[in-house]
Amino acid sequence: MNNEDKKIKTIVRNVSDSDAFDIACRILKEGGLVAFPTETVYGLGGDGLRAESSEKIYAAKGRPSDNPLIIHIADMADVERLAREIPDKARTLMEAFWPGPLTVILKKKPEVPDTTTGGLDTVAIRMPSHPDAARLIRESGVLIAAPSANTSGRPSPTLAEHVIDDMNDKIDMILDGGPVGIGIESTIVDMTGDTPVILRPGYITKHMLEGVLGEVKIDKAIIEPDPNLRPKAPGMKYTHYAPSGKLTIIETSGRSYGDGNFDSDDTESRDDFGGPVSQAVIDRINLETEKAESEGLVTAVLTTSDMADRYKCKNIITLGESGSGTTVAARLYAALRECDRIGAEVIFSESFDRDELGFSIMNRLLKAAGHRVIEV
Ligand code: TXA
Ligand code: MG
Repeated sequence: MNNEDKKIKTIVRNVSDSDAFDIACRILKEGGLVAFPTETVYGLGGDGLRAESSEKIYAAKGRPSDNPLIIHIADMADVERLAREIPDKARTLMEAFWPGPLTVILKKKPEVPDTTTGGLDTVAIRMPSHPDAARLIRESGVLIAAPSANTSGRPSPTLAEHVIDDMNDKIDMILDGGPVGIGIESTIVDMTGDTPVILRPGYITKHMLEGVLGEVKIDKAIIEPDPNLRPKAPGMKYTHYAPSGKLTIIETSGRSYGDGNFDSDDTESRDDFGGPVSQAVIDRINLETEKAESEGLVTAVLTTSDMADRYKCKNIITLGESGSGTTVAARLYAALRECDRIGAEVIFSESFDRDELGFSIMNRLLKAAGHRVIEV
């Protein structure tokens, strides 16, 4: 994409440039929007304490305004400015995982505009570990409300190019920090009740949370789709990540019943989330793509790189390595965007065990597939 054709006023490729930070800070202080890298995905930042900045964010994303924003902070003391109450367990959690890919839900102070929290009485707070994000918050003095910097419904951006594609003439500036490290959004934990509840699975897994908190629940509505259950994180109810083509997940039967729990017979490494797919899965994907191609459709296969040469499809889009959740998470959204770029009409994907990080990855992949799964 030629950036000359684009209307974003400033795209800064070298974020170590202090002039860039000065401009970004000025924009934020004046109520404008700046996209910036975090360790999870790129965020679309505005002043979280100004209702008009949050309104601009909803407009730029095309996002329903009942879907609240996360406020990003750089210092522990900032929590007191936002939250009415900080339970002991919440403090323990923040001390264990901040700065990092964890968002905590607490009861909000009246100073936090209802626009930012989508009318809820609670506020989502996260302290990112990415140095550019931390620097932007500190130097601007702004508590930055930032959803993922994608158009509502599309995969979250893991490269500045993804933000440019989606935000075109809608925002003032992008700080380009290169590819993000993690690639899926933060884990959201509701700390307003007696037992902590995971509202959105992410890089920090249930097992890791239990290590510091004891019992942790998962919002039932995010485990299996059920139209009668309403997710407690409003954003989890919307269609998300879906490529324009029809994506179907092919998996070995029995894989679908994970619930985010860590099985004691699993290996101790959280990055081990299942080995290569079975021959039956490969055969079925080859059969399906051949059939679709014979009907003249553009097909694509999402596969881990070590399995790539087993497929006959011309458009192979790789997703990291089997057995390594971190590499799959890092590639997932770019791969889903790639499906659209090549105009894929029918897409088949391998599946991953739903334990540990695999649970968070499958949460996204299943949404992208509209929960279309074929068991073989
Ligand atoms: O990793 C991340 O969390 C990224 C980076 C930029 O920090 N941000 C992000 O924001 O993913 P967003 O807006 O795309 O997703 C925020 C999610 C939505 O599902 C929203 O409904 C939920 O958090 N949320 C925000 N405030 C909430 C609240 N008070 N109660 C429950 N859910 C909340
Ligand atoms: Mg988002």
